[in-house]
Formats: sequence, structure tokens, C-alpha cells
Amino acid sequence: MTQPELLGYLGGKPCVLVPTMGYLHDGHLSLVRRAKQFSQEHGIPSVATIFVNPTQFNDPSDLAKYPRDIERDKGFLEAEGLDVVYIPAVDEVYPPGVDCSVPLPDVATKPRLEDEHRPGHFEGVCQVLVRLFEMCDAKAAVFGEKDWQQLQVARAIVKQQGLDVEILPGETVREPDGLAMSSRNVHLNEKEHAQALAISRAIREGGREPSWREAERLMKRILTDADMTVDYAVVREATGLTANPDEAPGMTYRCVITARSGGVRLLDNGPWPV
Ligand code: PAF
Repeated sequence: MTQPELLGYLGGKPCVLVPTMGYLHDGHLSLVRRAKQFSQEHGIPSVATIFVNPTQFNDPSDLAKYPRDIERDKGFLEAEGLDVVYIPAVDEVYPPGVDCSVPLPDVATKPRLEDEHRPGHFEGVCQVLVRLFEMCDAKAAVFGEKDWQQLQVARAIVKQQGLDVEILPGETVREPDGLAMSSRNVHLNEKEHAQALAISRAIREGGREPSWREAERLMKRILTDADMTVDYAVVREATGLTANPDEAPGMTYRCVITARSGGVRLLDNGPWPV
């Protein structure tokens, strides 16, 4: 299906969108169910995009090894009863010769979390979101809470660009052992998977620690004791993600972690205090 075909199918109605990069798991499917609910409440169609966005990968090997299985994904989405699966080509999203870059909101550049560890990543995420929202005429879009900074970036870019798109958060879905679901989990061997459980444990225990400084120390200790490499394990004000609780009193806060098990980079987060 091309973009004009998609718009023809939507028949002038805006949609509720679930943007994905495919290789769907139960986490995505819970976002799809959230979209279906919104679709029913507002009488508009639900659309999922599958697009492995080349501009958000700062490491070309990461893009090359990104897992893909379109047929399996389509089967999952059809089973959920989603109205349309749109799989745009790179040239449709980024027409050759057209500059699709957008200025970045502060939450995409200031927190020194994913912005620092994946330079260029949010440039790519922001441009693809603005393009997909436009191309699909999105009235709402669902984003998983697992990628907490991305969720805040999505909210901020919509505001900054003056787009009329409601951002709907979807709760993190976990494996029975606590590991947050991610397309990257398939790259974990048994030992790395066992190590990676330290992340959700750190989030849980950090959230229960009444002092935010102690919570940060505790999360780091839990991760390093499990031989994980910690990119960051911090407690921050939940929306701007720059300030610690002392710098931004009276707000809501989030424990945010990125750590590596073997070569696999994993993200998770949870409320502080719980
Ligand atoms: O979270 C993802 O899968 C991607 O970053 C997204 C939101 C689909 C943009 O390419």
C-alpha cells in the first residue's frame, strides 16, 4: 500500500497510529489494543506502521542486525483486528532531495541520557514521527512507556511543531521474570538474559528507596553486581528528564536505566518513589 492508497482507504478520516519498527512482541500488541480502544471511542480507524527508520540508528551495524519478520508481524496485527498495516518505503518517508529534519525539543538534547549515549538518535526519531504523523493524518499515536525518554520526546515534538496529535502512553509489558519486553531481547543468550533481570530488580528496589541519591547508588550496585555495563541509572523529574528531585521539588520522578548485558543495550524505567 502506498501513502495515497492509505489516505484513500482512510476516506478523509484521521487515524490513531501505532508507529513500530516491526518484529512485534506482546509489548507492541498491548499498544495496538490501546489504539483499538481509542479507535472505537472516537470512531476513527487504527493504523500501525512498520518502518525500520534508518535515520535513528547511529550505529549502522545496529540497523543491519535489527530483527525483521514482516509476515509474522502482519499476522499478529491482523489477529488483533487492526484496520490497516502500512509499511512505507524509505523514499516515501524521506522523498529524495527533501530536507525532513526538524528542530529538536530540549528533552531530546538536554538530559544526557539516550541523547548522549546515542548521538543523532532523536534527530531521526523526531523526523520520522513528524513524517509519519503527517503521512497517516494521525489524530493520536501510542508510545510505550518502556522508552520513557522517547515518549517525552514524542509529546514535546508534537507541541513544538504545533501538531494536533494526542500522545497516548502504553504501560511496559514484562516477561514473567520481570524483563521488559523489547525487540532486542532475542539477542540475549541464556546467561545474558539472566543478568539482564538485574535491570527490573534495580527499578523495583530503587523505586522503594526513600532517598533518591541512595536509589541511584542502589540501582548502580545491583547492575554492576550482575556484571552489567551501566550507561546510566538515575532518578529524574519525569517529563523534562534533566532535573533531580532536589532541583525540581514537588514534581513526579522516574528511575531511568540503560545497561548492557553482553552486547545488548536494554532500557527500563519505573516511578520513584513507588
Ligand atoms: O520505538 C520505536 O520502535 C521507534 O523509535 C519508533 C517510535 C517507531 C520510531 O521509529
